[in-house]
Amino acid sequence: MFKRAVATAPGKVTLFGEHAVVYGHPALVAAISRRVRVVVERLDEPKLVVSSSNLPIRGLNLELRGDEIRAAVDTRLALRLLSYVLEALEVVDQHLGVEEKPGLRITIDSDMPVSAGLGTSASITVATIAAYSALRGAKLKRETIARLGHMVEKRVQGAASPMDTAIATYGGLLVIEPGRSPPYRVLEAVSPPLVIGYTPREGTTAELVARVRMLRERYPDLVDMVMESIGRLTRRALDELLSGRLDSLGELMDMNHSLLRALGVSTKKLDDMVNAAKVAGALGAKLTGAGGGGSMIALCPEKLRSHVEASIRAVGGSIIEANTGGEGVKVESLG
Ligand code: PMV
Repeated sequence: MFKRAVATAPGKVTLFGEHAVVYGHPALVAAISRRVRVVVERLDEPKLVVSSSNLPIRGLNLELRGDEIRAAVDTRLALRLLSYVLEALEVVDQHLGVEEKPGLRITIDSDMPVSAGLGTSASITVATIAAYSALRGAKLKRETIARLGHMVEKRVQGAASPMDTAIATYGGLLVIEPGRSPPYRVLEAVSPPLVIGYTPREGTTAELVARVRMLRERYPDLVDMVMESIGRLTRRALDELLSGRLDSLGELMDMNHSLLRALGVSTKKLDDMVNAAKVAGALGAKLTGAGGGGSMIALCPEKLRSHVEASIRAVGGSIIEANTGGEGVKVESLG
């Protein structure tokens, strides 16, 4: 076993198809240039220490000995992140068929906000799987990392599509096709130029997915029609993206946002940011990720970028400076 392994993985923006992808429809997703970094170090003592110096969740610093957790601040978010890390270690041990648990120090750093609709929990999961398996001397294929990552998200969240863990693993641009094996396809296309706006989010992805499920229980046929429409416009968006027709792509983004509003996952703040981007000349704009706050994207030509950014800031949003199409999970060092 090695002493120290470092892995990084990108965040993501969903271009089309969030929520509907949970019900088997396709989605289009792009990695971004913001990443998380997970360092896994072997300790001589049989304990697990998880910490982060810069995650914007007050002082994540957790220590685990047996079943006892010592948390510097046991915020709900910190404990939730810990569950992704613990499950990631568990699935790697199961996959490798090992039982003995080594003492570990895990340090997580992120250059994007957590719970922002940018897939940070999937990036942490995937980077932990890559770093810990490398520490154990295993070189996992990307397909295996994506599959194990999806397993972790399902265990922690109850329901999850393979989208976030697949894009954190592969990077670039992916079409997610639930039900196929594997449920994603790498797209050789240029990522469209996007501005990413952000507003803090209160609910978690799991809560928003549950809210949509409850709406569907009350109005099954209507909600299924919305999901079907999102699926269809995502397929159309794929054609438009491959042909480089940005105007049509923008129109489809606007439609996708309206359908997400119909599902009840947008907020006034997200709508304000979307409208502000459109007024400033964006070709299209929509919320991205689970909604309930979090992030939005605006499709806009480079020459309008600063204008669109200023307009989003003017209604109280922040801008996340990032390019699309970041590289997938990577073991940065091993020793
Ligand atoms: O907000 P995020 O980054 O966790 O994205 C969630 C995307 C959903 O489609 C709503 C859920 C999923 O598992 O695909």
